[in-house]
Amino acid sequence: MNHKIIIAIDGYSSSGKSTLAKEISKKLKYKYIDTGAMYRGITLLAIRKKIFNSDLWNIQNFMPVLRDINFKLRWNKKLNGTDIFLNEENIQSEIRSLKITKKVSLIAQIPEIREKLTLIQKNFGEKKGIVMDGRDIGHSVFPKSELKIFMKGSIEVRSYRRYQDLKKRGEEVSYEEVKKNIIHRDIMDTSRKISPLKKSIDSIEIDNTFLSIEEQLNLIFQLINKIKKNNHIIV
Ligand code: DC
Repeated sequence: MNHKIIIAIDGYSSSGKSTLAKEISKKLKYKYIDTGAMYRGITLLAIRKKIFNSDLWNIQNFMPVLRDINFKLRWNKKLNGTDIFLNEENIQSEIRSLKITKKVSLIAQIPEIREKLTLIQKNFGEKKGIVMDGRDIGHSVFPKSELKIFMKGSIEVRSYRRYQDLKKRGEEVSYEEVKKNIIHRDIMDTSRKISPLKKSIDSIEIDNTFLSIEEQLNLIFQLINKIKKNNHIIV
């Protein structure tokens, strides 16, 4: 019997979803899947193929891109994390740039792209034992997941986190520019027609404005222990 569970983590941009998801996956020896990276990967391809410059809304432009798409996750020993490969190219670093970040919300609104990526994400969860983060995991990709978390934090704390990340990457960017982008993405993510970011009724909300990663992990493992006890499972 498969005792593993699916942990779905949704929430606002830069709310610390991936940091938390990575730590949980390490402790449980589960796979970590960052679905935002997939939307970023398609954005990268769209920029390279100059689809943004022609007609973004003509889905015919995306058909050849979507038909052959192939995502793989591989462990990176040096970085102690998973790298994401798109069509055998390691895109882990390139997709974090502000150039991609500024365009990704547009890509995430296209129904055919969401459909295709949702299908790939469901396949990743076939054998359970995964922690997946994104915007629509709890209510759309895995509505039956055993643990659903919804993360939020103040605009200032989230902007500062993203600003620090980008500075570390060596990007010339101001805090105000990052904050503007996060506010813009919040609006785009919550107001799009298909699978907008929203908290499902059975998810547990974590506002980590004033919480350390250890405090968040304690909370999560209390929840996991409760699930184990109630369902008599090992996880
Ligand atoms: O988590 P992130 O910042 O890497 O996500 C990039 C964008 O992708 C974000 O603006 C919204 C979109 N996204 C989405 O629409 N659905 C998901 N499951 C994950 C991300």
